[in-house]
Amino acid sequence: MALVDSKKMFEMAYKNGYAIGGFNVNNMEITQGIVSAIAEEKAPLILQISRGARKYASMSYLRAIIDVAVAENPDIPIVMHLDHGDTFESCKQCVDDGFTSVMIDASKQPFEENIEVTKKVVEYAHANGVVVEAELGQLGGIEEDVVGVSTNDIHKHLTDPDQAVEFVEKTGCDSLAVACGTSHGAYKFKTEPKLAFDVIQRVAEMLPEFPLVMHGSSSVLKEFKDLINKYGGDMPDAMGVPEDAISQAAKMAVCKVNIDTDLRMALTAKIRQVFAEKPAEFDPRKYLGPGREAIKDMVAHKLHILGCAGKAAECMHSN
Ligand code: G3H
Ligand code: 13P
Ligand code: ZN
Repeated sequence: MALVDSKKMFEMAYKNGYAIGGFNVNNMEITQGIVSAIAEEKAPLILQISRGARKYASMSYLRAIIDVAVAENPDIPIVMHLDHGDTFESCKQCVDDGFTSVMIDASKQPFEENIEVTKKVVEYAHANGVVVEAELGQLGGIEEDVVGVSTNDIHKHLTDPDQAVEFVEKTGCDSLAVACGTSHGAYKFKTEPKLAFDVIQRVAEMLPEFPLVMHGSSSVLKEFKDLINKYGGDMPDAMGVPEDAISQAAKMAVCKVNIDTDLRMALTAKIRQVFAEKPAEFDPRKYLGPGREAIKDMVAHKLHILGCAGKAAECMHSN
């Protein structure tokens, strides 16, 4: 089976109250860890590639790795998605490169400009059979190429439900990333984590059956945070989105949940552990292997949190 777009996945996720994991990939081990989990759990999958990932690994390597994942798992629907495309040109490039889904993130631009560039991406993508995720409102946090507002200010930049309706109508986008209190990276909250479920609820009421996306949804799992801090790391204040909040959002209109930081932390924790416990070890397979295994176990667990374990078959395209 070839790569698919996310239409059927989102239709089933919306109808049956679960969400698909949008997992970021940057190399072979991360991809293998994710894919072995979805193969075991029979879950639909969105593999996403950021501009940073394209720069780091190069598209031809990432594409070859993903092609193997698709060929080895004919019973699993897999989407190849551009994460946080920033311009029409970067989205066009990915459509031309064979992505089945692209995100245009013009959320930092004024409303009318966000509409204008999103509409242009939608026209090009749809003409080529590719679906489009857009973003309205601003998340906090910071990644290599994705800069958000200060975590102190995220509640000032939540998605406005009225604007969301106008935005979706005018752009024709297929899904919408909403700002509902999450942020990118490992430092999402300074005090008690809280999501604005009212924003999700209101947008869902005003845009019935329209799939929403939640970025910045890593949970910063205690197991990996503790290992990192125990073995020489320095992430004492890291805090993520509680997993029960993720499950709650997945039962609502949120059909895609983006996770990168939890993958990074699982890999880093295991590498640090091997380096600390076996200082004479210098074979990369001996530390990347345990990292890959930790990613697999973590992703398998997430698929149950999202509710998409066992849902691969119902998400297969009918065409
Ligand atoms: O949303 C951001 C993702 O975690 C990707 O981050 O730009 O550092 O690859 P990156
Ligand atoms: P995290 O940093 O919470 O993993 O979010 C990743 C993300 O939103 C990718 O687009
Ligand atoms: Zn994101």
